[in-house]
Amino acid sequence: MARRSGFVVLSVAAVALPSWLRAAEPTATALRAPRAFAHIKDPRQRSVALFAEASRVIFHPRCLNCHPPDDHPRQGDAQVVHDPPVFRGPADNGLPALRCDSCHQDRNLVHARVPGAAAWHLAPLEMAWLGKTPGEVCRQLKDEARNGRRTLDEIWHHAAHDELVAWGWSPGHDRTPAPGTQKEFGDLIRAWIDTGAACPPETEKASR
Ligand code: HEC
Ligand code: HEC
Repeated sequence: MARRSGFVVLSVAAVALPSWLRAAEPTATALRAPRAFAHIKDPRQRSVALFAEASRVIFHPRCLNCHPPDDHPRQGDAQVVHDPPVFRGPADNGLPALRCDSCHQDRNLVHARVPGAAAWHLAPLEMAWLGKTPGEVCRQLKDEARNGRRTLDEIWHHAAHDELVAWGWSPGHDRTPAPGTQKEFGDLIRAWIDTGAACPPETEKASR
């Protein structure tokens, strides 16, 4: 009898969710649009909240894996060190003998499971995000010494249009895409800039 009820419990847990229940889930991976923050009267607080929402993309493994603070890309949702071992190299595109583009092409390779997009290489060290808080990344994004000498408009343009950024939403091979869409992410960055580009406190941790 006890065995029988144990079996029932197990099989219930293993049963797939009905599709109507699954359809309700994507809220976790959707991005809230700037208008969802309109009720926050104080522009500074609204700006911080907009950045926090955009951070759900910035702190996603698809982005962090290419923005490490050391010589090695990460991989997967667990952000483990790239296997096979590869190095950043002098131009962030690998060692001369083993460049990123010896394996990574300008598109995802379906059968080999190698992700790809044009000019696949690591973000330079000064643009490292992995291990930082949203507040730290926010300040760094505004600092022309650490953001590739970009104005805030150029940061928006990069966020909304760059091809390596775009890959985060079409990562191929069962990889989890970044939340929302690149357009929605760009809209949040735009709204963050338009409200004064305020930053969360340095110490506050990222939430997904
Ligand atoms: C010898 C081939 C090879 C080289 C060279 C190589 N990679 Fe990879 N890389 C792979 C393969 C294969 C995967 C997929 C691993 C998987 O998902 O199982 C991968 C995955 C990745 C990922 C993970 C994507 C994700 O979010 O899961 C990143 C980031 C990455 N590589 C960056 C780089 C960078 C940057 C370089 C150059 C410094 C580089 N790779 C060099 C073969 C290579
Ligand atoms: C394949 C590696 C790769 C992936 C994946 C990647 N990036 Fe980057 N990122 C780069 C490189 C390289 C640069 C530097 C480009 C330059 O300055 O010309 C960069 C720079 C940036 C910048 C410019 C300013 C700065 O201070 O960092 C932003 C913004 C950015 N990435 C956002 C993202 C977001 C958001 C994602 C995920 C949706 C992402 N990136 C995924 C490689 C990557």
